Amino acid sequence: MLTLPPLSLYIHIPWCVQKCPYCDFNSHGQHGELPQQQYVDALLADLTNDLQYVQQRKLHSIFIGGGTPSLFSAEQIKRLLDGVQQQIPFQDKIEITMEANPGTLEHDDFVDYRAAGVTRLSIGVQSFSSDKLNLLGRIHDKDEAKVAAEKASQANYKSFNLDLMHGLPNQSFTEAMRDIETAAALNPPHLSWYQLTIEPNTLFHSKPPQLPDDEALWQIYEQGQQRLAELGYEQYEISAYAKPGYQCQHNLNYWQFGDYLGIGCGAHGKITQLAEQKIYRTVKIKHPKGYLAASDYLFDKTEVAEEDRALEYLMNRLRLMSPIPKAEFEMRTGLAHTSLDIGMQKAAEKGLMQISHDHWQLTPKGNMFVNEVLGQFCD
Ligand SMILES: C[S@@+](CC[C@H](N)C(=O)[O-])C[C@H]1O[C@@H](n2cnc3c(N)ncnc32)[C@H](O)[C@@H]1O
Ligand code: SF4
Repeated sequence: MLTLPPLSLYIHIPWCVQKCPYCDFNSHGQHGELPQQQYVDALLADLTNDLQYVQQRKLHSIFIGGGTPSLFSAEQIKRLLDGVQQQIPFQDKIEITMEANPGTLEHDDFVDYRAAGVTRLSIGVQSFSSDKLNLLGRIHDKDEAKVAAEKASQANYKSFNLDLMHGLPNQSFTEAMRDIETAAALNPPHLSWYQLTIEPNTLFHSKPPQLPDDEALWQIYEQGQQRLAELGYEQYEISAYAKPGYQCQHNLNYWQFGDYLGIGCGAHGKITQLAEQKIYRTVKIKHPKGYLAASDYLFDKTEVAEEDRALEYLMNRLRLMSPIPKAEFEMRTGLAHTSLDIGMQKAAEKGLMQISHDHWQLTPKGNMFVNEVLGQFCD
Protein backbone atom coordinates (compact mmCIF):
# COMPACT_ATOMS: atom_id res chain seq x y z
CA MET A 1 0.00 0.00 0.00
CA LEU A 2 1.17 3.53 -0.79
CA THR A 3 1.96 5.58 2.31
CA LEU A 4 2.60 9.32 2.50
CA PRO A 5 6.33 10.10 2.20
CA PRO A 6 8.00 13.30 3.51
CA LEU A 7 6.89 16.44 1.65
CA SER A 8 9.44 18.91 0.22
CA LEU A 9 8.90 22.15 -1.69
CA TYR A 10 10.85 23.29 -4.76
CA ILE A 11 10.60 26.98 -5.69
CA HIS A 12 11.90 28.09 -9.09
CA ILE A 13 13.27 31.57 -9.79
CA PRO A 14 13.73 31.76 -13.58
CA TRP A 15 16.13 34.68 -14.11
CA CYS A 16 19.92 35.02 -14.38
CA VAL A 17 22.17 37.98 -15.15
CA GLN A 18 22.97 36.23 -18.43
CA LYS A 19 22.55 32.76 -19.86
CA CYS A 20 25.58 30.43 -19.55
CA PRO A 21 26.41 28.61 -22.83
CA TYR A 22 26.21 25.11 -21.24
CA CYS A 23 22.99 25.56 -19.29
CA ASP A 24 19.61 24.06 -20.22
CA PHE A 25 17.81 25.02 -17.02
CA ASN A 26 14.64 27.08 -17.39
CA SER A 27 16.40 30.40 -16.96
CA HIS A 28 16.31 33.69 -18.82
CA GLY A 29 18.82 36.52 -19.04
CA GLN A 30 17.63 39.51 -17.08
CA HIS A 31 16.38 42.55 -19.02
CA GLY A 32 15.73 45.49 -16.74
CA GLU A 33 14.36 45.27 -13.25
CA LEU A 34 12.90 41.94 -12.11
CA PRO A 35 9.23 41.82 -11.07
CA GLN A 36 10.19 40.48 -7.64
CA GLN A 37 7.10 41.57 -5.74
CA GLN A 38 4.73 40.30 -8.43
CA TYR A 39 6.59 37.00 -8.79
CA VAL A 40 6.55 36.28 -5.04
CA ASP A 41 2.81 37.00 -5.03
CA ALA A 42 2.38 34.55 -7.92
CA LEU A 43 4.48 31.88 -6.15
CA LEU A 44 2.33 32.14 -3.04
CA ALA A 45 -0.89 31.92 -5.08
CA ASP A 46 0.57 28.92 -6.95
CA LEU A 47 1.24 27.26 -3.58
CA THR A 48 -2.32 27.93 -2.44
CA ASN A 49 -3.59 25.98 -5.47
CA ASP A 50 -1.37 23.04 -4.44
CA LEU A 51 -2.50 22.87 -0.80
CA GLN A 52 -4.84 19.99 -1.67
CA TYR A 53 -1.70 17.82 -2.02
CA VAL A 54 -0.31 18.49 1.45
CA GLN A 55 -2.59 16.01 3.26
CA GLN A 56 -1.75 17.24 6.78
CA ARG A 57 2.02 16.97 6.39
CA LYS A 58 4.58 19.48 7.60
CA LEU A 59 7.28 20.63 5.18
CA HIS A 60 10.42 18.52 5.35
CA SER A 61 12.66 20.82 3.24
CA ILE A 62 12.58 23.75 0.81
CA PHE A 63 14.90 24.39 -2.13
CA ILE A 64 14.89 27.79 -3.85
CA GLY A 65 16.61 27.11 -7.16
CA GLY A 66 16.95 28.64 -10.56
CA GLY A 67 18.03 30.49 -12.42
CA THR A 68 19.65 32.68 -9.85
CA PRO A 69 17.56 33.17 -6.69
CA SER A 70 20.25 35.44 -5.23
CA LEU A 71 19.05 38.09 -7.70
CA PHE A 72 16.05 38.48 -5.40
CA SER A 73 16.41 40.69 -2.34
CA ALA A 74 16.55 39.14 1.13
CA GLU A 75 13.37 41.11 1.87
CA GLN A 76 11.47 39.30 -0.91
CA ILE A 77 12.93 35.92 0.08
CA LYS A 78 11.70 36.56 3.63
CA ARG A 79 8.25 37.50 2.36
CA LEU A 80 8.24 34.30 0.30
CA LEU A 81 9.32 32.03 3.17
CA ASP A 82 6.95 33.66 5.65
CA GLY A 83 4.11 33.28 3.12
CA VAL A 84 4.96 29.61 2.64
CA GLN A 85 5.01 28.98 6.38
CA GLN A 86 1.61 30.62 6.79
CA GLN A 87 0.23 28.04 4.38
CA ILE A 88 2.15 24.90 5.38
CA PRO A 89 3.76 24.43 8.80
CA PHE A 90 7.47 23.66 8.84
CA GLN A 91 8.94 20.55 10.41
CA ASP A 92 11.45 21.24 13.22
CA LYS A 93 14.94 21.97 11.91
CA ILE A 94 13.67 22.29 8.35
CA GLU A 95 16.45 22.59 5.74
CA ILE A 96 15.92 25.64 3.50
CA THR A 97 18.46 25.89 0.67
CA MET A 98 18.91 28.83 -1.69
CA GLU A 99 21.12 28.83 -4.79
CA ALA A 100 23.46 31.77 -5.15
CA ASN A 101 25.74 32.92 -7.93
CA PRO A 102 29.05 34.45 -6.73
CA GLY A 103 28.55 37.23 -9.29
CA THR A 104 25.45 38.55 -7.51
CA LEU A 105 27.01 39.35 -4.13
CA GLU A 106 26.29 43.01 -4.57
CA HIS A 107 22.54 42.36 -4.52
CA ASP A 108 22.23 41.41 -0.89
CA ASP A 109 24.41 40.06 1.84
CA PHE A 110 24.44 36.38 2.75
CA VAL A 111 23.80 37.42 6.37
CA ASP A 112 20.48 38.91 5.27
CA TYR A 113 19.31 35.72 3.51
CA ARG A 114 20.20 33.83 6.69
CA ALA A 115 18.02 36.24 8.69
CA ALA A 116 15.26 35.74 6.11
CA GLY A 117 15.14 32.05 7.06
CA VAL A 118 17.51 30.37 4.58
CA THR A 119 19.57 27.71 6.42
CA ARG A 120 21.78 26.42 3.61
CA LEU A 121 23.43 28.13 0.63
CA SER A 122 24.38 26.42 -2.62
CA ILE A 123 26.96 28.48 -4.48
CA GLY A 124 27.56 28.03 -8.21
CA VAL A 125 31.36 28.26 -8.36
CA GLN A 126 32.00 25.85 -11.28
CA SER A 127 35.78 26.41 -11.32
CA PHE A 128 38.49 28.49 -9.67
CA SER A 129 40.36 29.05 -12.95
CA SER A 130 39.83 32.45 -14.60
CA ASP A 131 40.38 30.91 -18.00
CA LYS A 132 37.70 28.23 -17.46
CA LEU A 133 35.22 30.68 -15.91
CA ASN A 134 35.65 32.79 -19.00
CA LEU A 135 35.06 29.86 -21.35
CA LEU A 136 31.95 28.94 -19.34
CA GLY A 137 30.56 32.46 -19.76
CA ARG A 138 30.40 32.97 -16.01
CA ILE A 139 29.77 36.47 -14.65
CA HIS A 140 32.26 36.10 -11.78
CA ASP A 141 36.00 35.58 -11.47
CA LYS A 142 37.88 33.14 -9.23
CA ASP A 143 38.34 35.67 -6.43
CA GLU A 144 34.62 36.42 -6.26
CA ALA A 145 33.99 32.67 -6.04
CA LYS A 146 36.35 32.43 -3.05
CA VAL A 147 34.84 35.49 -1.36
CA ALA A 148 31.36 34.00 -1.77
CA ALA A 149 32.44 30.75 -0.09
CA GLU A 150 34.17 32.66 2.72
CA LYS A 151 31.11 34.84 3.28
CA ALA A 152 28.89 31.75 3.36
CA SER A 153 31.08 30.12 6.00
CA GLN A 154 31.01 33.27 8.16
CA ALA A 155 27.28 33.95 7.94
CA ASN A 156 26.12 31.28 10.39
CA TYR A 157 24.47 28.94 7.90
CA LYS A 158 23.91 25.36 9.04
CA SER A 159 25.65 24.22 5.88
CA PHE A 160 26.72 25.38 2.46
CA ASN A 161 27.47 23.71 -0.83
CA LEU A 162 29.81 24.59 -3.64
CA ASP A 163 28.88 23.49 -7.19
CA LEU A 164 31.97 22.52 -9.16
CA MET A 165 32.11 21.15 -12.70
CA HIS A 166 34.84 19.04 -14.28
CA GLY A 167 35.62 17.86 -17.79
CA LEU A 168 35.66 21.53 -18.81
CA PRO A 169 36.85 22.82 -22.20
CA ASN A 170 40.60 22.07 -22.58
CA GLN A 171 40.80 21.12 -18.90
CA SER A 172 43.86 19.11 -17.91
CA PHE A 173 43.90 16.54 -15.14
CA THR A 174 46.05 18.88 -13.01
CA GLU A 175 43.62 21.77 -13.46
CA ALA A 176 40.64 19.63 -12.44
CA MET A 177 42.44 18.39 -9.34
CA ARG A 178 43.51 21.93 -8.45
CA ASP A 179 39.83 22.99 -8.44
CA ILE A 180 39.06 20.23 -5.94
CA GLU A 181 41.93 21.34 -3.66
CA THR A 182 40.88 24.99 -3.81
CA ALA A 183 37.27 24.12 -3.07
CA ALA A 184 38.17 21.84 -0.15
CA ALA A 185 40.44 24.50 1.36
CA LEU A 186 37.32 26.70 1.72
CA ASN A 187 35.87 23.89 3.85
CA PRO A 188 32.31 23.56 2.50
CA PRO A 189 30.36 20.83 4.32
CA HIS A 190 28.94 19.76 0.92
CA LEU A 191 30.37 19.62 -2.60
CA SER A 192 28.49 18.93 -5.83
CA TRP A 193 30.97 17.79 -8.45
CA TYR A 194 29.31 17.52 -11.87
CA GLN A 195 30.85 16.40 -15.12
CA LEU A 196 30.05 19.02 -17.77
CA THR A 197 27.48 17.62 -20.18
CA ILE A 198 26.64 19.15 -23.51
CA GLU A 199 22.88 19.58 -23.51
CA PRO A 200 20.68 20.08 -26.58
CA ASN A 201 19.36 23.64 -26.97
CA THR A 202 22.47 25.25 -25.53
CA LEU A 203 25.14 27.37 -27.19
CA PHE A 204 27.73 24.67 -26.46
CA HIS A 205 25.58 22.23 -28.43
CA SER A 206 25.59 24.38 -31.54
CA LYS A 207 29.25 25.41 -31.10
CA PRO A 208 30.86 22.51 -29.20
CA PRO A 209 34.01 23.39 -27.25
CA GLN A 210 37.04 21.08 -27.18
CA LEU A 211 36.47 18.73 -24.23
CA PRO A 212 38.97 16.31 -22.64
CA ASP A 213 38.93 12.85 -24.28
CA ASP A 214 37.31 9.83 -22.60
CA GLU A 215 40.54 8.61 -21.07
CA ALA A 216 41.30 11.99 -19.52
CA LEU A 217 37.68 12.26 -18.27
CA TRP A 218 37.96 8.86 -16.63
CA GLN A 219 41.24 9.77 -14.94
CA ILE A 220 39.73 13.00 -13.60
CA TYR A 221 36.66 11.16 -12.32
CA GLU A 222 38.51 8.29 -10.70
CA GLN A 223 41.27 10.34 -9.08
CA GLY A 224 38.87 13.13 -8.14
CA GLN A 225 36.57 10.74 -6.32
CA GLN A 226 39.52 9.28 -4.45
CA ARG A 227 40.88 12.70 -3.49
CA LEU A 228 37.48 13.87 -2.28
CA ALA A 229 37.27 10.79 -0.06
CA GLU A 230 40.74 11.51 1.37
CA LEU A 231 39.57 15.05 2.10
CA GLY A 232 36.67 13.69 4.16
CA TYR A 233 33.88 14.01 1.59
CA GLU A 234 31.74 10.92 1.39
CA GLN A 235 30.10 10.33 -1.98
CA TYR A 236 26.41 9.56 -1.39
CA GLU A 237 25.08 10.17 -4.91
CA ILE A 238 26.53 10.27 -8.44
CA SER A 239 27.63 13.92 -8.11
CA ALA A 240 27.06 14.70 -4.41
CA TYR A 241 29.73 14.58 -1.70
CA ALA A 242 29.32 15.56 1.94
CA LYS A 243 31.11 15.61 5.25
CA PRO A 244 29.37 13.22 7.70
CA GLY A 245 25.96 14.58 8.70
CA TYR A 246 25.79 17.15 5.88
CA GLN A 247 23.95 15.33 3.11
CA CYS A 248 21.34 17.50 1.38
CA GLN A 249 18.01 16.50 2.92
CA HIS A 250 16.01 17.98 0.06
CA ASN A 251 17.80 16.04 -2.67
CA LEU A 252 17.77 12.88 -0.55
CA ASN A 253 13.99 13.12 -0.45
CA TYR A 254 13.87 13.35 -4.29
CA TRP A 255 16.12 10.34 -4.70
CA GLN A 256 14.23 8.30 -2.11
CA PHE A 257 11.09 8.92 -4.20
CA GLY A 258 9.63 11.27 -1.62
CA ASP A 259 6.97 13.85 -2.48
CA TYR A 260 7.55 17.45 -3.48
CA LEU A 261 5.44 20.37 -4.53
CA GLY A 262 6.96 22.44 -7.32
CA ILE A 263 6.01 26.11 -7.61
CA GLY A 264 7.27 28.74 -10.04
CA CYS A 265 7.95 28.75 -13.79
CA GLY A 266 8.27 25.23 -15.19
CA ALA A 267 8.58 23.67 -11.71
CA HIS A 268 7.95 19.94 -11.42
CA GLY A 269 6.13 18.26 -8.53
CA LYS A 270 5.55 14.64 -7.50
CA ILE A 271 2.64 13.84 -5.26
CA THR A 272 1.18 10.76 -3.62
CA GLN A 273 -2.60 10.94 -3.21
CA LEU A 274 -3.31 8.65 -0.30
CA ALA A 275 -7.09 8.29 -0.59
CA GLU A 276 -6.87 7.47 -4.31
CA GLN A 277 -3.70 5.34 -3.90
CA LYS A 278 -2.21 7.17 -6.88
CA ILE A 279 0.96 9.10 -7.72
CA TYR A 280 0.88 12.24 -9.86
CA ARG A 281 3.46 14.45 -11.52
CA THR A 282 2.72 18.14 -11.99
CA VAL A 283 4.39 20.80 -14.18
CA LYS A 284 3.76 24.53 -13.96
CA ILE A 285 3.63 27.08 -16.81
CA LYS A 286 7.17 27.49 -18.10
CA HIS A 287 7.60 31.03 -19.41
CA PRO A 288 7.70 33.93 -16.93
CA LYS A 289 5.29 36.04 -19.01
CA GLY A 290 2.64 33.30 -19.17
CA TYR A 291 3.21 32.37 -15.55
CA LEU A 292 2.86 35.91 -14.26
CA ALA A 293 -0.35 36.44 -16.25
CA ALA A 294 -1.96 33.19 -15.03
CA SER A 295 -4.31 32.43 -12.16
CA ASP A 296 -4.11 28.67 -12.59
CA TYR A 297 -0.40 27.99 -12.84
CA LEU A 298 -0.70 24.30 -13.65
CA PHE A 299 0.49 23.34 -17.14
CA ASP A 300 0.22 19.57 -16.87
CA LYS A 301 -0.76 16.86 -14.40
CA THR A 302 -0.24 13.21 -15.21
CA GLU A 303 -0.62 10.01 -13.27
CA VAL A 304 2.40 7.74 -12.85
CA ALA A 305 0.90 4.47 -14.08
CA GLU A 306 1.20 1.56 -11.69
CA GLU A 307 3.37 -0.37 -14.17
CA ASP A 308 5.84 2.55 -14.35
CA ARG A 309 6.25 3.08 -10.61
CA ALA A 310 8.95 0.47 -10.00
CA LEU A 311 11.25 1.79 -12.73
CA GLU A 312 10.68 5.41 -11.73
CA TYR A 313 11.50 4.54 -8.13
CA LEU A 314 14.70 2.73 -9.18
CA MET A 315 15.80 5.53 -11.55
CA ASN A 316 15.82 7.86 -8.57
CA ARG A 317 16.88 5.49 -5.83
CA LEU A 318 19.83 3.91 -7.66
CA ARG A 319 21.51 7.32 -7.78
CA LEU A 320 22.15 6.91 -4.06
CA MET A 321 24.92 4.67 -2.77
CA SER A 322 23.03 3.55 0.37
CA PRO A 323 21.26 0.17 0.71
CA ILE A 324 17.65 0.10 -0.47
CA PRO A 325 15.20 -1.15 2.16
CA LYS A 326 12.60 -3.41 0.58
CA ALA A 327 10.04 -1.81 2.94
CA GLU A 328 10.85 1.64 1.47
CA PHE A 329 10.13 0.33 -2.03
CA GLU A 330 6.74 -0.97 -0.89
CA MET A 331 5.76 2.24 0.91
CA ARG A 332 6.81 4.53 -1.97
CA THR A 333 5.38 2.52 -4.86
CA GLY A 334 2.51 0.59 -3.27
CA LEU A 335 3.90 -2.55 -4.95
CA ALA A 336 5.09 -5.82 -3.39
CA HIS A 337 8.89 -6.02 -3.19
CA THR A 338 8.68 -9.44 -4.82
CA SER A 339 7.73 -7.66 -8.07
CA LEU A 340 11.45 -6.81 -8.38
CA ASP A 341 12.67 -10.36 -7.68
CA ILE A 342 13.43 -11.36 -11.28
CA GLY A 343 15.29 -8.13 -12.15
CA MET A 344 17.23 -8.12 -8.87
CA GLN A 345 18.21 -11.75 -9.40
CA LYS A 346 19.48 -11.00 -12.92
CA ALA A 347 21.45 -8.01 -11.60
CA ALA A 348 22.91 -10.15 -8.81
CA GLU A 349 24.03 -12.81 -11.29
CA LYS A 350 25.94 -10.12 -13.20
CA GLY A 351 27.67 -8.97 -10.01
CA LEU A 352 25.77 -5.65 -10.01
CA MET A 353 23.58 -6.14 -6.92
CA GLN A 354 23.67 -7.83 -3.52
CA ILE A 355 20.43 -9.15 -2.13
CA SER A 356 19.81 -9.63 1.59
CA HIS A 357 16.71 -10.46 3.60
CA ASP A 358 15.40 -6.89 3.85
CA HIS A 359 17.68 -4.81 1.57
CA TRP A 360 19.10 -4.55 -1.91
CA GLN A 361 22.53 -2.98 -2.31
CA LEU A 362 24.38 -1.97 -5.49
CA THR A 363 27.85 -3.53 -5.65
CA PRO A 364 30.79 -1.24 -6.56
CA LYS A 365 30.43 -2.58 -10.12
CA GLY A 366 26.67 -1.87 -10.03
CA ASN A 367 27.42 1.71 -8.95
CA MET A 368 29.48 2.18 -12.10
CA PHE A 369 26.89 0.62 -14.42
CA VAL A 370 23.56 1.90 -13.10
CA ASN A 371 22.05 1.93 -16.60
CA GLU A 372 22.82 -1.75 -16.98
CA VAL A 373 21.15 -2.42 -13.63
CA LEU A 374 18.07 -0.49 -14.77
CA GLY A 375 18.10 -2.52 -17.99
CA GLN A 376 17.29 -5.66 -15.95
CA PHE A 377 13.89 -4.18 -15.15
CA CYS A 378 12.93 -3.01 -18.65
CA ASP A 379 11.05 -5.70 -20.49
C1 LIG B 1 20.81 26.17 -11.28
S1 LIG B 1 22.52 26.05 -11.31
C2 LIG B 1 23.13 26.80 -9.79
C3 LIG B 1 22.94 28.26 -9.37
C4 LIG B 1 23.31 29.38 -10.28
N1 LIG B 1 22.39 29.39 -11.36
C5 LIG B 1 24.72 29.34 -10.79
O1 LIG B 1 24.93 28.81 -11.89
O2 LIG B 1 25.58 29.88 -10.12
C6 LIG B 1 22.84 24.39 -10.85
C7 LIG B 1 24.19 23.79 -11.14
O3 LIG B 1 24.09 22.78 -12.16
C8 LIG B 1 25.36 22.61 -12.75
N2 LIG B 1 25.15 22.53 -14.21
C9 LIG B 1 24.39 23.34 -14.97
N3 LIG B 1 24.47 22.97 -16.26
C10 LIG B 1 25.30 21.89 -16.33
C11 LIG B 1 25.79 21.05 -17.38
N4 LIG B 1 25.45 21.26 -18.66
N5 LIG B 1 26.63 20.04 -17.05
C12 LIG B 1 26.98 19.82 -15.77
N6 LIG B 1 26.56 20.58 -14.74
C13 LIG B 1 25.72 21.60 -15.01
C14 LIG B 1 26.21 23.78 -12.37
O4 LIG B 1 27.24 23.35 -11.49
C15 LIG B 1 25.25 24.70 -11.66
O5 LIG B 1 25.85 25.41 -10.62
S1 SF4 C 1 24.22 27.83 -14.85
FE1 SF4 C 1 23.15 29.04 -13.34
S2 SF4 C 1 23.70 31.20 -13.82
FE2 SF4 C 1 24.20 29.99 -15.62
S3 SF4 C 1 22.35 30.19 -16.91
FE3 SF4 C 1 22.19 28.24 -15.73
S4 SF4 C 1 20.99 28.78 -13.98
FE4 SF4 C 1 21.76 30.72 -14.84
